[in-house]
Amino acid sequence: MSANRQKTFAAAAALAYVEDGMTLGLGSGSTAEIFVRLLGERIKDGLRIQAVATSNQTAELAQEVGVPLIDVDHVNHISVTVDGADEVDGHFQLIKGGGGCLLREKIIAHASDLMIVVIDESKLVSRLGRFALPVEVDRFGFSITAKQIYDVLRACGIAKPDVQLRRKGDGLEPFVTDGGHYILDCACGAIPDAAMVDYRLKALPGVVEHGLFIGLARVVIVGEDTEARVLEL
Ligand code: A5P
Repeated sequence: MSANRQKTFAAAAALAYVEDGMTLGLGSGSTAEIFVRLLGERIKDGLRIQAVATSNQTAELAQEVGVPLIDVDHVNHISVTVDGADEVDGHFQLIKGGGGCLLREKIIAHASDLMIVVIDESKLVSRLGRFALPVEVDRFGFSITAKQIYDVLRACGIAKPDVQLRRKGDGLEPFVTDGGHYILDCACGAIPDAAMVDYRLKALPGVVEHGLFIGLARVVIVGEDTEARVLEL
């Protein structure tokens, strides 16, 4: 069965958490985009909400499908954020940032009463790390930061980390985030202690943010072939 079908079941189930009058956080990536499209249909049917977007791409889509956006600096309170993930473990720890939007995603998730993660089954893992961990870094001195990240990952029990600068599709130019930073993709194989990696990466001056989301998601909706499974902490 297609991952797209599973993503659609998950995104549709997240609509049950949306109520009139809410301010929503809109995540990024293909599953979050399905949610935004479904939300647009509900708004056409009379739902009244406003939203903040976690990426320029999501903001463009929201405008296209009629989801009213407000400036992030005019938001008083975000009730629910719905976002995708690249990996989710049994403790609702996440790896995010495959699309390069992790900084804004984390700012909005952190500011929300509730973060709901919408995924297809392939994203569920017993241990994080098969997906390369994205780390957003300042462009200045990024090679120095890359070396420091390598050392941190080694100190956290990852035997052979591979830290690579993310490049655009053409493979030539570095990928640049909406915030103007680079992404270093860190292949770890497995991350034995995600909380330690979180803490130690954040201590590096060149690291703007990383893709480990710990203690943020409280609801995970897993799209399956015929329905969605809602997991709550
Ligand atoms: C964007 O930066 C990411 O965090 C996405 O949320 C994540 O990559 C999941 O994307 P998909 O829903 O497209 O798999």
